Amino acid sequence: MVLPSMRLDDRIALVTGAGSGIGQAIAVAMAEAGADCVCTELPDRMERLGPVCAAIETAGRRAWALPLQLPHLDSIDALVAGALEAAGRIDVLVNNAGVNIPRPALDLTESDWDQVLDTNLKGLFFLSQRVARTMVAGGGGKIVNIASQNGVVGYYRRAAYCASKAGVVNLTRVLAIEWAPHHILVNAVGPTFVLTPLTQSTFDDPTLRQDLLGRIPLGRVGQPEDIVGAVVFLASPAADLITGHTLLVDGGWTAL
Ligand SMILES: NC(=O)c1ccc[n+]([C@@H]2O[C@H](COP(=O)([O-])OP(=O)(O)OC[C@H]3O[C@@H](n4cnc5c(N)ncnc54)[C@H](O)[C@@H]3O)[C@@H](O)[C@H]2O)c1
Repeated sequence: MVLPSMRLDDRIALVTGAGSGIGQAIAVAMAEAGADCVCTELPDRMERLGPVCAAIETAGRRAWALPLQLPHLDSIDALVAGALEAAGRIDVLVNNAGVNIPRPALDLTESDWDQVLDTNLKGLFFLSQRVARTMVAGGGGKIVNIASQNGVVGYYRRAAYCASKAGVVNLTRVLAIEWAPHHILVNAVGPTFVLTPLTQSTFDDPTLRQDLLGRIPLGRVGQPEDIVGAVVFLASPAADLITGHTLLVDGGWTAL
């Protein structure tokens, strides 16, 4: 047998923002690949995890629902402690939670900037740091950051969002080289526009929708299911020599 496994049998995965959109699909895909899954959601949205945990259990795996409010360190520390208490360890961290506040750069407020950067970059870093400390003690692990094609190309009305995702792409490289000696592999996935609650207003605008479709050679936007294969692959033994990489799932947008 030459082909390494793309399965995650008996791994413990932690997926942030698992109650919606791409995170929901990733959590269920992790279970379908064989992993038990700790799912997080904002404290006032915990009911969203009910169907996700049910789908994970239907796939024959264990599921836990825990709150997380990025970037607060007390919330991050409580999550990591709760995950360790429930599941015993964390083998795979998927940093999926994120926000976008689309606004022209001339109108962007300090509060907009802080909310996007704090969630997408600061929160992602400190959760990664806290989980990596447990992975060092446990002998290694995998981290997959959900960046964006907007981490490598710009788009209108997304100054804070593009800055945050470009930060994630380069942070991925730094963490990969610093944590390689601990056998912690850090990669990112960069989706194109995917139809989720985050992007609904963009798709509802016919002009924007036409602009987006014109930039995607494959001629369609993504569905959450389009993203999960890349995440499972990077978390699996098949990607054991890949670290510091951002795998774009962009329908050819950045090749144009
Ligand atoms: N949808 C797209 O077109 C697209 C494209 C590229 C990248 N992404 C990225 O994919 C990820 C998921 O996006 P989505 O489209 O599924 O969005 P979504 O809005 O459907 O889901 C985002 C999730 O993050 C959670 N979240 C938001 N703020 C949080 C905070 N402060 N602390 C903890 N959790 C928080 C939300 O509750 C939700 O569960 C994001 O990082 C996003 O930037 C999305």
